[in-house]
Amino acid sequence: MVFIPNIDRLYSDRAGKMRKSVIRELLKVTQDPEIISFAGGLPNPKSFPINDLKGVIEQVMDHNGKAALQYGTTQGLNELREILAERAYKDGIEVDADQVIIVSGSQQALDTVGKMFLNPGDTAICGLPTYLGGINAFRAYESNLMGIPLDEDGLQVDVLEEKIKELLKKEITPKFIYTVPTFQNPAGVIMPESRRKKLIDIANQYDLVIVEDDPYGKLRYDGPHINPIKSFDDEGRVIYMSTFSKILSPGFRLAWTIASPELTRKMVICKQALDLCTNTFTQFIAAEFLRRGSMDLHIMKICELYKPKRDIMMNAMPKYFPDGYTCYKPQGGMFAWVTLPKGIDTETMFLDAIKEKVAYVHGKAFHVNGGGERSMRLNFSYSTDEQIDEGMKRLGAVIKKKLEKRELVY
Ligand SMILES: Cc1ncc(COP(=O)(O)O)c(C=O)c1O
Repeated sequence: MVFIPNIDRLYSDRAGKMRKSVIRELLKVTQDPEIISFAGGLPNPKSFPINDLKGVIEQVMDHNGKAALQYGTTQGLNELREILAERAYKDGIEVDADQVIIVSGSQQALDTVGKMFLNPGDTAICGLPTYLGGINAFRAYESNLMGIPLDEDGLQVDVLEEKIKELLKKEITPKFIYTVPTFQNPAGVIMPESRRKKLIDIANQYDLVIVEDDPYGKLRYDGPHINPIKSFDDEGRVIYMSTFSKILSPGFRLAWTIASPELTRKMVICKQALDLCTNTFTQFIAAEFLRRGSMDLHIMKICELYKPKRDIMMNAMPKYFPDGYTCYKPQGGMFAWVTLPKGIDTETMFLDAIKEKVAYVHGKAFHVNGGGERSMRLNFSYSTDEQIDEGMKRLGAVIKKKLEKRELVY
């Protein structure tokens, strides 16, 4: 293998500062089939509607083969955007198809938001903890991220307001507030309607943009449906995004944004340089799947698959974990967020867990201002029911051992 000597000197400052994604690195370790992995955010492959999609693909090839294999517009397939606008209407979001962009995964939407708003040194606000992919996307634009703590109702909006005031006093205008209000990744919590409205009030009062990331909203196992923050947005300040990754297939690399006409126009321009257009083939497939009315039934089946998995994980905690941990029962989504007793560092404990063939993501990875040492994210969608119980048993034993050692040290 030949290397260019001192290649680092040629990298942009931006590329030089970019770090590997902790989760991607962890996923490599968890490739070992003996490891029970609660680490990734993967849908269960059993949830993929392979047979239904075979028929859909055949239909697309027969009727729209030429267009499906061609470039498309940057904003995305009209038919798909129309269906998504109609579906958004059911969630209280009144928009027309012109305000929808089909993107190559929500991850691309996050990058586009970063590109649109962030100059080096700019400040954006996010949760503590928050989605790692969001952190990576915004940090790539050399921004500063300010974290606002979450409680069992999500982002603490009163703390948010205080922090915004502090920033404004220092003449720093935060560019946007990034939030995952429904079954948050990683904390699993859901923000009630009253807090969503308060968040809108704050954005209106301080003239800010909200970026609402909603991949899990349809994966609800209990509790009432709560409309997205976007549905309360009377001033066009919310950029909403959702994805087909958790309700159909992450391999499709298909997601969508909904925003005001003005923000949509700018996003389309910013997206153009990234990929010219989103995967046309999968757009046609998703549109046909939706047109057939298959989506809602499919989502119901996914919920039926994941709800018992969530329950097995939650029931395993008191059975196998030592006293002193906390975990809010997630009403939906794919993650449980556990905080362990004092003295444990989940980052160093990860190596012990791997030796016992169980994996998770440590809490620090999701914290932009430090913290999260005692926390970890556990995914319950991917493993089999038996693996979840066995994995929790292994993890419980690792935690107990760690706690015993801690007592020896103190
Ligand atoms: C909160 C959140 N946002 C965005 C994404 C990325 O989704 P996509 O597969 O559409 O890029 C994920 C994936 O896990 C996520 O959890």
